[in-house]
Amino acid sequence: MLTRELIATCSRGLEEILADEVLNLGGLRVEPGRGMVRFQGDRLTMIRCCLGLRTAMRVLIPVASGPVADREQLYRLAAQVAWEEYLTPGGTLAVNVAGQNPAFSNTVFAAQVVKDGVVDRVREIRGGRPSVDLVKPHVPIHLHLGEHQASIALDAAGTPLSKRGYRPKGGPAPLNSALAAGLLLLAEYDGERPFLDPMGGTGTFAAEAAMIATRMAPGLFRRYAFERWPDHRQDLLIKVRRDLEARQIPAPCPIVSADHDPKALKVAKQNLGAAGVNQWVDIVAGEATAMDPPGEDSLIVINPPYGKRLGEADALKGLYSALGDRLKAIGGNSTAWILAGNRELSKNIGLKASRRIPVFNGPIECRWMRFDLYEGSRKFRPEDNSLAKNAEE
Ligand SMILES: C[S@@+](CC[C@H](N)C(=O)[O-])C[C@H]1O[C@@H](n2cnc3c(N)ncnc32)[C@H](O)[C@@H]1O
Repeated sequence: MLTRELIATCSRGLEEILADEVLNLGGLRVEPGRGMVRFQGDRLTMIRCCLGLRTAMRVLIPVASGPVADREQLYRLAAQVAWEEYLTPGGTLAVNVAGQNPAFSNTVFAAQVVKDGVVDRVREIRGGRPSVDLVKPHVPIHLHLGEHQASIALDAAGTPLSKRGYRPKGGPAPLNSALAAGLLLLAEYDGERPFLDPMGGTGTFAAEAAMIATRMAPGLFRRYAFERWPDHRQDLLIKVRRDLEARQIPAPCPIVSADHDPKALKVAKQNLGAAGVNQWVDIVAGEATAMDPPGEDSLIVINPPYGKRLGEADALKGLYSALGDRLKAIGGNSTAWILAGNRELSKNIGLKASRRIPVFNGPIECRWMRFDLYEGSRKFRPEDNSLAKNAEE
């Protein structure tokens, strides 16, 4: 593949972080957009981005774009692409749709139109039909609908890059891994300071922190759609894996993931083991309201419950206010970042945020709020520090 336009998509709010990542992995002419970054790259860059990007959801190879106001236009746009270079009659495809267009209020219909254009083209040229496989298609196709236009791309990764491949299938994933990594990078975490997530749940932040601290590429555990393409170069994939693996270093500072729920701790332990980072993370049982960071100048990240249902948020006010009290007491030049999904609730923290960065956790608009915990803010330190106790099996 010669150098061509590529697109990496991400949660909104992470575009600048993703642009830096793409640059570091060899992308050229990198331009952040809305929920995505455009760049130029060859096959090696594409593979490197799939394995190495922490904050991207997809790496796309655009193949067609144009005005679209009805079924016929979208069908013709899809049928003009040389799909026969990727798909044989026995091959499989799936169409994923993002964005909105007034002519296609039903995105399933839009996906079907693209599928028809692809299948008809391959049948005409190759004499047989490819079929649909929604789970593991040879060619995942990404359709992006804009108000008056659409663009079609090959999806090089297939399953979104936030699926790192270490969680058991169907296991809980409360925080998207790509978003977690992006939030840590927004907090300027580079592994060079102690780290604590006192509401760590299944360990998503800690897993991403350990990968950042050890320079471990997040995509070493999984497979990619491009491996099923006729022009796939296994030698390049092996080279990229080796290069990325050679960058790894031991974690320079402690990383702690805590929770008060024994079930969450058990899952965290499994996940961090499967991710190959358990030797760098201490999983401990304890109350967040009695947290004690693992050193001066720690980074504390918190993804507290939001209380999605009516009445639940009220019950959480006390927890937010106790969290704020504990942070005031910690001081030590540490920094805390809280992912706030409920503005009213976050007021109960009772501390003034020095930064509030808008980010999207799926459809929920959140604020990634930074609190600087200066030495002077230390007022008390409760005797009971249950976070120091190691979690039981
Ligand atoms: C929104 S979830 C965090 C999910 C986590 N980021 C993950 O990816 O799994 C909130 C977590 O906080 C924990 N939690 C709630 N109240 C707590 C408290 N007072 N002390 C410690 N953990 C608490 C819950 O058990 C839950 O695992």
